[in-house]
Amino acid sequence: MTNHSQAMTAKYRQDYQAPLYWIDTIDLDFQLQEPLTQVTAITRIRRNGDHNEPLVLDGEQLTLKSIAIDGVPCEHYELGEGSLTLFNLPTECVLTIVTLLDPAANSALEGLYKSGDAYCTQCEAEGFRRITYYLDRPDILARYSTRITADKAKYPFLLSNGNKVDSGNLDGGRHFVQWQDPFPKPSYLFALVAGDFDVERGSYVTRSGRKVALEIFVDKGNLDRAGFAMESLINSMRWDEQRFGLEYDLDIYMIVAVDFFNMGAMENKGLNIFNSKFVLANPATATDSDYHGIERVIGHEYFHNWTGNRVTCRDWFQLSLKEGLTVFRDQEFSSDFGSRGVNRINNVRTVRGPQFAEDAGPMAHPIRPDVVIEMNNFYTLTVYEKGSEVIRMMHTLLGEEHFQAGIRLYFERFDGQAVTCDDFVQAMEDASGVDLGRFRRWYSQSGTPELTVTDEYDAASDVYRLHVRQHTPPTQDQPQKLALHIPLDIELYDEQGAVIPLQYQGKAIGNVLDVLETEQTFTFDRVPTKPVPSLLRDFSAPVKLHYDYNDEALAFLMRFARNEFARWDAAQMLINKAVIDGVARIQQGQDVAVSATLLDAFVAILDDRELDPALKAEILALPGEATLTELFEVADVDAIHRVRDEIQQRLAQAFGAQLAAQYDSLKLPTYRVVHADMAKRALKGVILGYLAALDAGSADLLVRQQYAAADNMTDTLAALQVANSHLLPCRAELLADFEGKWAHDGLVLDNWLRLVGSKPAADVLADVKLAMAHPTFSIRNPNRLRALIGSFAMNNQVQFHARDGSGYRFLTDLMIELNEVNPQVASRLITPLIQFKRLDEERKGLIRAELTRLASLEGLARDLFEKVSKALLQ
Ligand code: TRP
Ligand code: ZN
Repeated sequence: MTNHSQAMTAKYRQDYQAPLYWIDTIDLDFQLQEPLTQVTAITRIRRNGDHNEPLVLDGEQLTLKSIAIDGVPCEHYELGEGSLTLFNLPTECVLTIVTLLDPAANSALEGLYKSGDAYCTQCEAEGFRRITYYLDRPDILARYSTRITADKAKYPFLLSNGNKVDSGNLDGGRHFVQWQDPFPKPSYLFALVAGDFDVERGSYVTRSGRKVALEIFVDKGNLDRAGFAMESLINSMRWDEQRFGLEYDLDIYMIVAVDFFNMGAMENKGLNIFNSKFVLANPATATDSDYHGIERVIGHEYFHNWTGNRVTCRDWFQLSLKEGLTVFRDQEFSSDFGSRGVNRINNVRTVRGPQFAEDAGPMAHPIRPDVVIEMNNFYTLTVYEKGSEVIRMMHTLLGEEHFQAGIRLYFERFDGQAVTCDDFVQAMEDASGVDLGRFRRWYSQSGTPELTVTDEYDAASDVYRLHVRQHTPPTQDQPQKLALHIPLDIELYDEQGAVIPLQYQGKAIGNVLDVLETEQTFTFDRVPTKPVPSLLRDFSAPVKLHYDYNDEALAFLMRFARNEFARWDAAQMLINKAVIDGVARIQQGQDVAVSATLLDAFVAILDDRELDPALKAEILALPGEATLTELFEVADVDAIHRVRDEIQQRLAQAFGAQLAAQYDSLKLPTYRVVHADMAKRALKGVILGYLAALDAGSADLLVRQQYAAADNMTDTLAALQVANSHLLPCRAELLADFEGKWAHDGLVLDNWLRLVGSKPAADVLADVKLAMAHPTFSIRNPNRLRALIGSFAMNNQVQFHARDGSGYRFLTDLMIELNEVNPQVASRLITPLIQFKRLDEERKGLIRAELTRLASLEGLARDLFEKVSKALLQ
């Protein structure tokens, strides 16, 4: 599948126009056969308004066999690059189009393709045009009926959206199934699967009494790994009824797990298709974080049934309408089911790390982008994660009750329609009476706002003032920035750690301050002592906060802040200060210094018997190197690595005998997937890392013991990770043992590939190349690629940025290969090569040379073209 002469033209949000034609129904007939599949699409077309414009259908990588209009063969058409144009159509007509496709050759995994022995589809965003010529845009809502015919022995299951209405046997060992989806939908929600599977069956009775059949299709032999996904699905269905009042609307809900998939999962109506990574789990194969991932993604796709499917996007610029909202919903689901604090911490890590980096890079865009070359490039951290933060801010400003009223109004107004982000905000505003006028700028403005806070206390009058200044630095896409409506959640503490009520002139003030202007002052009276402020609690807005805390104030907040997130956040700020200071010292040839205040504060956390071990683990796990680079204008990756190591060592020394004692006390007799036990395992893993920093010799023994004794994948991997990151003597032996045990199982072997890619040693690239020759590795499998290449390029900063440019050259060579195989996956893996703003001039030069080489490649796919050309403008 080459992409020669793809159109590189940009599309603009402002250019939206209603379609010239509507499509009311589509009847699809798939003849699945080797080598070519034949697709017949019969559509009812209706002209929209009074005009004589031709009908321009989208189509890519298709072989056109025939066209008929109202049964009459049509000769007068124009086949363009990516389009089929038909002229002089009557006001209404029936169009019959027959196309041929080659699913086995489709390595881009978009449209109809083969994952192992099964056929499956991926149509979002613009994959349906690889199945037939169609108006492949989300504002065309049609009723689908789908008939699939295939060999019965090889493909006993033939699945599509909606309800099964007919099936039967045919000559030559073939059979067919006919599906009908009663809900009109955009083409991106179409799905088809054909294959042989094991099926996990369940059922759910909705609040109003509808009985829903639940079916999870997995590769044969994997039935013992489907139970948790089923449980999560049932929990999602119940939760959406209870928290959002939303009920499922078909008689059947199917999930198919496939091994070849570009993303996490896809919410096709009634027939979700999942990356098997987010379905399959048992204690022997999956880690605690794999379980969390499954719960989250099963929830996410299920929640799309309302936020995405029942109400969908008018155009792709509105993607955050469904994604931001659905991420918010899955985050709330995970928080209601597990630890709210820990979930918040992990979501904030993603925004502050990779999302802020995206804002600072050449692909910066608002959550509702204004210009797009390749839509697949806009399934981003900004649209998803920052999009969710924007929904969360509305939730903060409105409160749960008004927010839910807004959701109800949204569905009253727009059920069955394709709408815009503005429509959503309007419903929120109308239902709550809260003015969201300035708030709307979050949809149009890109970049990370910075809040600079200063304060003053007047002991004579007991008055405390907070001065807040907001400023959004320019981004590559947008030089001018405006003031935003920023909810700033704060709390004040006295020296004893007691809360000082917020009030002014006899009136109580809520915790959430409305920052609306470039500069604003908030005054509080009856403040009896100079307070310690807790600012941006719960990360109440996706901004960078600057306030000149000293180490003592941060240590105080780590101890006294009333909410878990604020305690973790204070710890992060304390570490960040130490890293910034440490890097400066290293650059001046001095030793790293870690303050006694910092050490004492962390020892107090380890000693705190009240604290949830999961939160302890989050506080004690130091920020990753990539996140730390965000602290610097020019980031010295080598110094950051050294300082982080040094801080870990100093902490380990300060923890002393505590470490080993706590490690032993966290051992569990049996494995259970429950929060309390997951928390202990997480903490045990973090402590093992500190033990290795303290004394590699004795840690080597402990790691070997933990590896040998482990009855679950979490403990196994924790041991391997420590062996790997500290290059313990047991590393090679344990990694080889693990590889030997799991060589046959791609999903589990991904853990090994990640360890190989993140080896902190100069010879890592040789190991990576060897791993690419492993029989289970395939460049056509996105999971394998992300595990091995992603860990090297994104989690092994020092080696990826090696001064000889070997990391850059390696990734660029791979991009050239992947450009032919799977441009969508290439375009995700290229991220560390385009976000080079914070590097030194020498490294920048090396990267520019590689990107220039890539830019000159003949047949460069749109996905890579868009990113490389923007990166070179930096
Ligand atoms: N809508 C999907 C989700 O949010 C995202 C998705 C799955 C996707 N597969 C894709 C987006 C392929 C683009 C291309 O869960
Ligand atoms: Zn989604």
